Amino acid sequence: MEKSWEILEGACLHCQQCDLCKTRTHVVIGKGNRNADILLVGEGPGEQEDLTGIPFVGAAGQLLDKMLAAVELSLEDVYIANIVKCRPPANRDPYDEEKQACLNYLRYQTMLIRPKIIVCMGRIAATTMISPNFKITREHGQWLERKGYWMIATYHPSALLRDETKKRPAWEDWKKIKTKIHALREEMQ
Ligand code: URA
Repeated sequence: MEKSWEILEGACLHCQQCDLCKTRTHVVIGKGNRNADILLVGEGPGEQEDLTGIPFVGAAGQLLDKMLAAVELSLEDVYIANIVKCRPPANRDPYDEEKQACLNYLRYQTMLIRPKIIVCMGRIAATTMISPNFKITREHGQWLERKGYWMIATYHPSALLRDETKKRPAWEDWKKIKTKIHALREEMQ
């Protein structure tokens, strides 16, 4: 397993599959527990993440830390990754070809982690991983089972920073995630 992670990291660190490699400072692969039951997927690195090589360390990351703590989850319980591993210039949405070029890494990562739950944070993650027509405002907080994973989408932490009214529905989503993981863990005992 360690070997597989080494292969993944090597491939990502040298990746030139799309033009984002030309402007990145660091490739941002992921953080958290590689054996976690919960995989959180964001959009792509922002400025702080590009500078440090670590996902969700900026303002959105700080809010995410708080939300995780509020549902009694820590970095021991989750692994955090993004749809694209290199920062799109000026934080624009990643282009289709960039997402497609990067998705095989995320698929491989998911296979290594083998989470029970995948949480898509925001529109980009949900439209890429669940369905191209996914509407966060209408469909967040709904469970679906795909390829042996329980999947759910919620608002991206950055969206909550921009619009406080989304905090309440996001909180409801996170409570559902907490309930689900407790139920799954009990099933396994
Ligand atoms: N936003 C994301 O989607 N991912 C990060 O890693 C940081 C901010």
